[in-house]
Amino acid sequence: MDGIQFRLTETVHSTDSTEMKILGISAHYHDSAAALIIDGVPVCAVQEERLSRRKNDPSFPLAAIEWCLHHAGVEPEDLDAVVFYERPMLKFDRILTCSLRTFPHSWRAFPKAMRNSLGEKMWVRGIISSHLGIPGRKILFTEHHQSHAAAAFLTAPTDHAAILTVDGVGEWATLCVGVGERFRNDTARINLQREIRFPHSLGMLYSTFTAYLGFPVNEGEYKVMGLAGYGRPTMTDRVRKLIQRTPDGAFTLDLDYFSFHTTAESSYSPRFLELFGPPRSPYEPIDLETSDGQRFADCAASVQQVLENTLVEMTQSLHQETGLPDLCLGGGVALNGLANARILAESGFERVFVPPAPGDAGCALGAALYADRIHFGNPDREVPDHPFWGPSVNGGDLARVAGEDGQQFRDCDDQALIGQTADDLAAGLIVGWMEGPLEFGPRALGHRSILAAPHNVGMRDRLNREIKYREEFRPFAPVVPIEVADRYFELPPGGTRLARFMSGVFRVRPEWRPRLEAITHIDGTTRLQALERNMAPRLYDLLEAYGQRSGMPVLLNTSFNLAGEPIVNRAVEGYSTFLRSGIDVLVAGNTRVMKRESRVAHREEAVA
Ligand SMILES: [Fe+2]
Repeated sequence: MDGIQFRLTETVHSTDSTEMKILGISAHYHDSAAALIIDGVPVCAVQEERLSRRKNDPSFPLAAIEWCLHHAGVEPEDLDAVVFYERPMLKFDRILTCSLRTFPHSWRAFPKAMRNSLGEKMWVRGIISSHLGIPGRKILFTEHHQSHAAAAFLTAPTDHAAILTVDGVGEWATLCVGVGERFRNDTARINLQREIRFPHSLGMLYSTFTAYLGFPVNEGEYKVMGLAGYGRPTMTDRVRKLIQRTPDGAFTLDLDYFSFHTTAESSYSPRFLELFGPPRSPYEPIDLETSDGQRFADCAASVQQVLENTLVEMTQSLHQETGLPDLCLGGGVALNGLANARILAESGFERVFVPPAPGDAGCALGAALYADRIHFGNPDREVPDHPFWGPSVNGGDLARVAGEDGQQFRDCDDQALIGQTADDLAAGLIVGWMEGPLEFGPRALGHRSILAAPHNVGMRDRLNREIKYREEFRPFAPVVPIEVADRYFELPPGGTRLARFMSGVFRVRPEWRPRLEAITHIDGTTRLQALERNMAPRLYDLLEAYGQRSGMPVLLNTSFNLAGEPIVNRAVEGYSTFLRSGIDVLVAGNTRVMKRESRVAHREEAVA
């Protein structure tokens, strides 16, 4: 996708009144978002949490909608359609049906499920109509997995691909397989051929273990994957009692081990506890030196392996069935980088595409694209292949905030700024790096990142201690120029595509591990980003400048946020995070702020 001209920073003013303007919305479950496409091409997209500053904000994304419309210079009445990412009535049908099936066990759960899962959703058309002042006939609904599939296929640079979407649950579907196709006449088709229905769900299986291991469901799944690296899959036989493959290639869960389908209070049943032992308290740290700590790590490794094996088997069948070289993956389970890497290595597909936001936030964009291409049958357009759809950061704003706070700041040209930042990193300083528009999706891919030297374990510990305030088993990730990624990491053919948006976990080459301690997980792997220059040119140049100083153009890249907070958006949030943490240097645009004590304190830790 060389040569794409990104529309990244400027407000886009639409001039052609015939261009169709479609707003996509995902809301009311987890991580709400809005996305706007004009004339078939995304113009902007943002998660509500980045604006409201409430992590995983599930509320109706008013701020995100307002920002999208303002950014594009579009009034609500100019919108041709507003598309909600799922069908509330089908969801209602599922919750009602499940409640009746399991009555009387479910009598407590039903009102809560109504509140949690439905609530405002039932009245979505009215809510959208009243907030935006548009007639109900302009409000459309896609199915949840259609939105996931569209977010995966219609943003991927491929004309013909198999599609697999996997999550906890949408309306009824928890997994869909199908095929996406673009035709010569500029039309596109998404044909989801088969589905697995709630309560049989790989996402719910993994979330049940997430809850059992004491992490919050819907955001602690990363922690289970990180913890898995410390364990051995000694309990896979037990996990397999919970999930059985069926002759038609699907699977069923043995519901005796679960309770998520009957109560909102707990995901697992007493029988689950008989099999796996007492659950972990969320308030107790995991001590891997104890037998319980090791049991939890083994449990994480076991469910991870069963998830991977199931996905590999299913994608192998899908590959045999379709004979296609490309696979598009969507749904929250597509955030599991270990599984994605195994799918690439073992399924037979040559290329695996995972969008930057495969989860429910990305459904806002998927729903808008689905309505445009499939419902309205508009011409298929190439979607720019990058994740930067949010508000732009402004160096002038950082200068103003720092100036008002009495902090010294410097404005530099690009070359000086990159040279200085590379010097800082080589001197062992930690840099908050804000650049251009915000990423859409959960990963920091170089526009809202904390950067540091990746070489020694002391840096990892310092980041965990002074900035991330998080468990030591959570690994950090590196960013590396795509051209040299293979030198440091064991990438299979097609691996750089998965690594474009940090969607795959790969092994660090053993000979480099001693110099990449801070980003090498206990099991020798890492979730790298392989950066193409035209996606984030300044970060790419910084990597090269750092490579000239250290001999290795690799940096540790972690999301720019503190524990429990969303990724920073504006300069003022970056500045506040900088002040409240051990970040030494803050860069936004061409403005640089440094804590006075930093250079002295960390000079001795020079690492390169
Ligand atoms: Fe989903």
